Amino acid sequence: MKKLIVANWKMQLSYQASLDLARKYSKKISGLKKEVVICPDYLSLPIVATIIKKTKLGLGAQDSAAVTAGAYTGEVSPVNLRALGVKYVLIGHSERREHLHENAAIINAKILAALAAKLIPILCIGERLTEKINGQTKDYLAEELRRALKNVKIKTAADLVIAYEPVWAISTNKNAKPLGAEEAEEIQKFIKDRAVKILHKTVRILYGGSVNPKNSSEFLKQKNIDGFIVGGASLKVKDFSLIC
Ligand code: PGA
Repeated sequence: MKKLIVANWKMQLSYQASLDLARKYSKKISGLKKEVVICPDYLSLPIVATIIKKTKLGLGAQDSAAVTAGAYTGEVSPVNLRALGVKYVLIGHSERREHLHENAAIINAKILAALAAKLIPILCIGERLTEKINGQTKDYLAEELRRALKNVKIKTAADLVIAYEPVWAISTNKNAKPLGAEEAEEIQKFIKDRAVKILHKTVRILYGGSVNPKNSSEFLKQKNIDGFIVGGASLKVKDFSLIC
């Protein structure tokens, strides 16, 4: 499977700035050996879909509802995202766990709903600084995986992606710094092995957290790093195209 590079624009851009950046991506990032996916905010998704239509760029959403339809004010159905041309959806990003109080049950339901709608969930997991300091990283990740993937069945290895994003390494967090490539590799392998036991398929495991043009090639040399989620550096087309 191709390496997958996901641009997570979060809520960092105005509507107009999202469209401008999508146009720049369309011009600068093409003919790639890697699969590149943009995750804009919901509001700009439809227009970004039109802007990138003739390119090889793919479309992702930053979240989707835990059900496919119904009386859920303010939610967005994975079925509608799919109809718009969205292929991937980030689920369980640490910012949603922290600021929007998403718990394991919600994340599990969102994965099941996304799969039912034929979206490819990108499940985000990662330890916080507390778990890291207390030496609980692997136990914490194993538990996050177990709970998020409860009752999840996939037909092929391409149907689901996992992203390892140590919370303390995400660039917007205080004193953030990226994990070393070799340390990351060891944890990525741990996650891959665990995921195989649960899913019976070898899914792609991405790395996320302060990825930039300087450290990206070192990460990609590792056997178990199948791509990235890029936040801050995805807002600068030059940096992002260098990573790609
Ligand atoms: P970062 O964000 O690249 O800015 O650290 C990654 C993420 O939050 O997905």
